[in-house]
Amino acid sequence: MLQRCILRLYHVLALVLCVSAREDFDWTKNERTSFYYSTFPTGFSWGAGSSAYQTEGAWNTDGKGMSIWDAFVHKKGKIFLNDTGDTSCEGYYKFKDDITLMKDMKLNHYRFSISWPRILPSGLKGEHINEKGIKYYDDLINMLLDNKITPIVTLYHWDLPQVLQEKYGGWQNVTMVNYFNDFANLCFERFGNKVKYWITFNNPWSIAVEGYETGEHAPGMKLKGTGAYKAAHHIIKAHAKVWHTYDMQWRSKQKGLVGISLTADWGEPVDITNQRDIEAAERYIQFYMGWFATPIFNGDYPQVMKDYIGRKSGQQGLGASRLPVFSPQEKSYIKGTCDFLGLGHFTTRYVTLKNYPSGLGDSYFADRDLAELVDPKWPDPGSEWLYSVPWGFRRLLNFVKTQYGNPMIYVTENGVSEKMLCTELCDDWRMQYFKDYINEMLKAIKDGVNVKGYTAWSLLDNFEWDEGYSERFGLYYVDFRNKNKPRYPKASVQFYKRIISSNGFPNQREVESWKRKAVETCSSSNQLLAADPLIGHMEMVTEIVVPTVCTLCILLSAVFLMFLLRGRI
Ligand SMILES: *[C@@H]1O[C@H](CO)[C@@H](O)[C@H](O)[C@H]1NC(C)=O
Ligand SMILES: *[C@@H]1O[C@H](CO)[C@@H](O)[C@H](O)[C@H]1NC(C)=O
Repeated sequence: MLQRCILRLYHVLALVLCVSAREDFDWTKNERTSFYYSTFPTGFSWGAGSSAYQTEGAWNTDGKGMSIWDAFVHKKGKIFLNDTGDTSCEGYYKFKDDITLMKDMKLNHYRFSISWPRILPSGLKGEHINEKGIKYYDDLINMLLDNKITPIVTLYHWDLPQVLQEKYGGWQNVTMVNYFNDFANLCFERFGNKVKYWITFNNPWSIAVEGYETGEHAPGMKLKGTGAYKAAHHIIKAHAKVWHTYDMQWRSKQKGLVGISLTADWGEPVDITNQRDIEAAERYIQFYMGWFATPIFNGDYPQVMKDYIGRKSGQQGLGASRLPVFSPQEKSYIKGTCDFLGLGHFTTRYVTLKNYPSGLGDSYFADRDLAELVDPKWPDPGSEWLYSVPWGFRRLLNFVKTQYGNPMIYVTENGVSEKMLCTELCDDWRMQYFKDYINEMLKAIKDGVNVKGYTAWSLLDNFEWDEGYSERFGLYYVDFRNKNKPRYPKASVQFYKRIISSNGFPNQREVESWKRKAVETCSSSNQLLAADPLIGHMEMVTEIVVPTVCTLCILLSAVFLMFLLRGRI
């Protein structure tokens, strides 16, 4: 009896502790344990992702308006090889084929985005609704549901209507909040009886920093030190407004969830015993994910951002901080506007303190007072910035849990690219990346992180923004030289399928056979691809003056083959 009472007391105490004390992230704990054989909780959702501008093509078809990306890519010199997303994967026409691919992989969900100007060509709901655009998304959603694939829909994956940029300055103008809310409200009205997972924004960090600070992305503005903070401020308000709109007008009928998708690298202190490195690493994350997550979960910008940007603005002689301020009403309006957190994650950096004296070009990057480093031993198979560091994923997931009250998480983007115009379908490094990152996610779930689903990025090779078609993230290879844009499975399709059908990693013997089996299928697809475009490769060599390593390899093997054949005759 006494024992029981003590046990009760203990439970109550534990409960009180859970509620009152926000658990702190332990920076000094850095487990890099071995592979963990186990399965995911039942009902865990497996998916793949895409976005409208990157895959749809049909940029000026069926009444679609121009987006800032349509305008940006048509300016020469902005995109690698001056490529555009005008046709891209022709996803607008081929979505039925693509759903067949998803069904074959037994995906539980598909994440895609709605192009705002495809539905509202001028950006404004009051002016003109393009019913053909609505019909496209309606057909897509219906067919997904017919195939038992849950749609997870992003409302803003970077393609702002160009009119809103030209007339009002885009996200520099607070009136975007209302325009975006009108667009979102229309989507809830038209699709909300079928769509239960809504993501307001995809990677607002990139929208703000690359769109309005460095200008590498559309709309290409270079407003150093102010542009990104202003854009982010308005994006956070827009997110909150859309969440409230759903909450008040639609939730009771439609019973869906509204979240936001934040992308963040992990930042690890260079020296885990050095307090200044730990603080620098924390700043890295607070300026990255905390910038958006802290207002949305806790009500205001991270204290460290307010301190650093405020102090530097003062040193510049500015009367006010370059970081805008939320009023008390806004803070309480924004706090708690997230039913689930979408998380995009690709890579990790080591971080150390580095002071940037003010006056020498103030910018978002200088405001952080840190330097980013990478370990040359980290595998670096694809995009220049993308190093494979699986343990960083578990650290980030645990950070989210402790900082934001253990929210429900859907991983909305995770994956790896390959370099240049490589036509290698036996993508060993991608299988390794998925295996290790998904395993770290599994460990995070064991740590108590509330992850409900995982979205491999991306279903298809697609238009990779300023990198054009030079970086391929797809599970499926797309032959962009062919007008029909045929899709070919890479080995990782088979590998991912096995993770899905086993709901994780059942045991060592089985998991170790997966790669071998996957490679068997990819060599036959490789032949398929090679059989068709041998002429295509020749074109590539002449079109692209600098031969890539891949084309060189192909040429060399052609020469080698000729030798062999000669020997036979
Ligand atoms: C892209 O366009 C610019 C401007 O016309 C030109 O200078 C550049 O050579 C083009 N790049 C390629 C790879 O075609
Ligand atoms: C912001 O947008 C409004 C229209 O909604 C416009 O009247 C105003 O001029 C814009 N402000 C700027 C600075 O462009």
